[in-house]
Amino acid sequence: MFSQEQAPLFDGVRKHAANKPLQFHIPGHKTGKGMDKEFSEYIGENALSIDLINIEPLDDLHHPHGMIQEAQQLAAKAFGADYTFFSVQGTSTPIMAMVMSVCKPGDKIIVPRNVHKSVTSALIFSGAIPVFVHPQLDHKLGISHGITPEAVEKALEANPDAKAVLVINPTYFGVAADLAHIVEISHRYEVPVLVDEAHGVHIHFHDEMPVSAMAAGADLAATSVHKLGGSLTQSSILNLREGLVRHEQVQTVLSMLTSTSTSYILLASLDAARRQLATKGQDMNTHAIQLANDARQSINGIDGLYCAGEEILSSEAAFAMDPTKLLVSVKQLGISGSEAERWLRKEKNIEVELSDLYNLLFLITPADSVEEIQQLIDALTDLADLHQAEISATEIEVSIPEIPVLSLSPRDAFYADTEAIPLTEAEGRISAESIMVYPPGIPIFIPGEIISTDNISYIQRNLEAGLPVQGLMDESIEYIRVIKEHRAFR
Ligand SMILES: Cc1ncc(COP(=O)(O)O)c(C=O)c1O
Repeated sequence: MFSQEQAPLFDGVRKHAANKPLQFHIPGHKTGKGMDKEFSEYIGENALSIDLINIEPLDDLHHPHGMIQEAQQLAAKAFGADYTFFSVQGTSTPIMAMVMSVCKPGDKIIVPRNVHKSVTSALIFSGAIPVFVHPQLDHKLGISHGITPEAVEKALEANPDAKAVLVINPTYFGVAADLAHIVEISHRYEVPVLVDEAHGVHIHFHDEMPVSAMAAGADLAATSVHKLGGSLTQSSILNLREGLVRHEQVQTVLSMLTSTSTSYILLASLDAARRQLATKGQDMNTHAIQLANDARQSINGIDGLYCAGEEILSSEAAFAMDPTKLLVSVKQLGISGSEAERWLRKEKNIEVELSDLYNLLFLITPADSVEEIQQLIDALTDLADLHQAEISATEIEVSIPEIPVLSLSPRDAFYADTEAIPLTEAEGRISAESIMVYPPGIPIFIPGEIISTDNISYIQRNLEAGLPVQGLMDESIEYIRVIKEHRAFR
């Protein structure tokens, strides 16, 4: 049996490459020799030597029985899961696999409305009917938090035939609901809990973080190792606790959604990231938390800025937070988050995680240093100085769009007869498309929802602020596809 200090998949792939077999298989570049020279030299020999696919000695992600199985078993142990499945398609595919493993067409699933677009895709693919639960809204910051256990209980009471409850733990902004309580309630109804843990891979490895999905007893969790766990972009995992969900079903569905050509660079990076998280996760995250807490304090000392801290935790929907997320409200400066983002890019060569109408989000990770944090504080001080004259003494009102009413299942709406009409004239019509600001990728409408003027003006405000509104087939965001209305003939 391997220990957490080892990385059997990374080692196995490296050994295979070091043996320099004569290759008569894909990828055709054969360790970079057949590749554009400028690119291969830039990427480097080591990376190209392990750009391999599932030949027999290297195991197969679709039927793991060798080094991939060993690496997945080590990951399961590290995350406290019964099974871990590796993904080379980010967390979006594991999220779809979670939903499609437990829901068939017509089944109900309880979901918060502020879900990522991959959940909307999962609803369309599976044909499941969402029972939406309102997330708690933060009217000071203009963002959504988690859902309350009480709301989940009400939804389950009204829909005891639901096939799953989906929870975001934590949100993009690092706020977590009382997940253990939600799990306890759902399990009383024998309903499995599926967790979107895209922003929480590291929380399992530090005791000052919100409780992780597996530690809370959830059944499935799609966890982005690539986001905050140190693996390469697009590598991710799906953790499973067996009981209410069968691992064979999850493996089958995940496999159906996954490419047969799985990147060993990504898979090996997952194995190495797991080793680092399991053996050094606590120390590394202590460093990140310390940096972030110091930064939070400094930012809150800058006139006109506010960096959210534990004071926003006021209910079971905002129950715990990941302190390494620095959510900075710039609204009192009289500018939007996106204006601040552009200024930081242009004047300070600083890139943020995201901005919205009111806020900036900075991620602090174990990779950061005291000097880099100081550079950020200095830049934010300059930004605030520039706007001192505009600082508002009265609290600026924020607006959060209404959650639209769902009138058709997302799948029925997606496949219905549609027509394109100007967005400005779409009030009262049923959307056949999703539209969102990305990041964070939370839909303003999903297919099947009734378009309201409030939501149209929210889209307009985001566009005017220069935020990345996307999702419509018409990239100019002028026309939206809506369900065709069939009027009676005269
Ligand atoms: C809340 C949430 N869930 C899921 C995802 C999807 O993750 P990935 O980009 O790894 O597919 C994201 C990505 O930003 C996200 O923010």
